[in-house]
Amino acid sequence: MLVTSTEMFKKSMEEKFAIGAFNINNMEFVQAILDAAAEENSPVILQTSASAIKYARIPYLRKMIEAGLEEHDIPVVLHLDHGPDFETCKMCVDNGYTSVMFDGSKYDFEENIRLTKEVVDYAHSKGVVVEAELGKLAGVEDDVNVSDSDAMYTDPEQAKEFVERTGCDSLAIAIGTSHGAYKFKGEAKLRFDILEKIKALIPNTPIVLHGASTVIQEYVEMCNKYGGNMPGAKGVPDEMLHEASLRGVSKINVDTDLRLAMTGGIRKVFTENPEVFDPRKYMGVGRDYIKDTVKHKMKDVFGCSNKA
Ligand code: G3H
Ligand code: 13P
Ligand code: ZN
Repeated sequence: MLVTSTEMFKKSMEEKFAIGAFNINNMEFVQAILDAAAEENSPVILQTSASAIKYARIPYLRKMIEAGLEEHDIPVVLHLDHGPDFETCKMCVDNGYTSVMFDGSKYDFEENIRLTKEVVDYAHSKGVVVEAELGKLAGVEDDVNVSDSDAMYTDPEQAKEFVERTGCDSLAIAIGTSHGAYKFKGEAKLRFDILEKIKALIPNTPIVLHGASTVIQEYVEMCNKYGGNMPGAKGVPDEMLHEASLRGVSKINVDTDLRLAMTGGIRKVFTENPEVFDPRKYMGVGRDYIKDTVKHKMKDVFGCSNKA
């Protein structure tokens, strides 16, 4: 069933687990993620960025998910990831998405509230839920010093005011993660102290962690071994994500790990079997690796297996 995230987030907070939100761009991703979720009997969030929508186009994305729902009886959310403006959010609400994110993190506090509230008012009038973001995710290339990076983390008091004034349904926070394959130069570090303060102030608001790929070393090595060039790629260790799931994070966003799984698989087939030119031969291997990755996260890290 295509559902909003309301019930699954409620259960995640009561039973202390997180739901995986996986970015999709094409059929192989949709099949791998939904097959994994069905085998794990897990709720799942499929999300598309604005650029994924530009690439794959909404009718295709929606129909592929509908096809998956014909095969599998699990709760699935179709979510807009990082909606950049009201128009994009509205387009998704009007096209059957059950959840949208408005990402106003680049605006100042008051403007973020004003723009988020506009999206909330429209989405709620159509029965769609809204994720908002407060705080800025660092990039490892930003090379910030401690005081600058402190300023990027989500302020707990502001988070409370933000949720009260916008009426958003869930909140993405910045506690040290970042997007992409290069998250930490040295040791991985998440500010669980900030998460704890936020949960104490807004215990009933589902919290979202972006930039939460592990950057699975097996696939990084596979990419590098077979002609790729990703030196020093590093993400958030599984143990930290598991801890986040126990400490009140309800939604964990994963894109990079799935890209690595697909790319590692394709590079391996291309290098080991240069005679292959049937796309099913390499896309199929990538699809299998994505499915393995999603199952591992659900079962061993997020704790959402058998929570459908
Ligand atoms: O958080 C961003 C996601 O990884 C989506 O990336 O805009 O390249 O599709 P994308
Ligand atoms: P990763 O780049 O760590 O996979 O993060 C994805 C994400 O946050 C999508 O919104
Ligand atoms: Zn993100």
